[in-house]
Amino acid sequence: MSNDEVYASGLLNRALDPATQPPEIRAFLEAEIELLQDTVADGMAVIDIGCGTGRHLAMLRNRLRIGVGVDYEHAYLVEARRRAGSGGLHFVTADAARLPIRARFDFATCLTNTWGTMSDKAGVLDEMRRCVPRPHMRLLSVFAEASIPARREWYRRFGHAVVAESAEYLTTDGGLRSEHFTETRLRSLVGDCTVHPLAGIAYIVRF
Ligand SMILES: C[S@@+](CC[C@H](N)C(=O)[O-])C[C@H]1O[C@@H](n2cnc3c(N)ncnc32)[C@H](O)[C@@H]1O
Repeated sequence: MSNDEVYASGLLNRALDPATQPPEIRAFLEAEIELLQDTVADGMAVIDIGCGTGRHLAMLRNRLRIGVGVDYEHAYLVEARRRAGSGGLHFVTADAARLPIRARFDFATCLTNTWGTMSDKAGVLDEMRRCVPRPHMRLLSVFAEASIPARREWYRRFGHAVVAESAEYLTTDGGLRSEHFTETRLRSLVGDCTVHPLAGIAYIVRF
């Protein structure tokens, strides 16, 4: 099974159920939210790549001029639209490496290790650069190697036992392939960027 099929099976809803989340994962998810609250300014136009059910845009909606969420799993976007209600937020079903979007934005996000589950990583970075021309206004949140024990437990609790571990990824019996990164690898994949630790198990990359 590929990650596309894993997401289509509804993995995200189980992963976002707090009952499946070890404390380290919960702290990471909370730290991401605090970071967004501190970083996204009033009146910004924001695009969230791999937005899932749209929880981050929904949280920010009152301060955004416009918010666009992109995900290739249509069922998640049905839920995102329901949650968003009317006005301000828009959701587009598309592959993050080939966005059918001409508009330009102030800020782009790709959160919760979404980039670490995408196959065409360079293509996604190119699309984020195209949609947000200003350097360092594109943000990735990705797992560090220190996340491995907490992720093993999280994945097990949502029904995906880890069957393979390498220096770059975990693979589960349900077919999820989720990468983790060193600072050196991030710099070689992203190029010009800043890298900061988050919650002891992740990195925030701005490029
Ligand atoms: C780890 S989940 C995170 C969802 C959301 N950002 C959140 O934090 O709640 C990753 C999301 O990215 C989507 N996704 C993965 N690869 C994608 C791709 N190539 N194009 C568009 N969406 C993708 C999945 O369907 C899933 O909703």
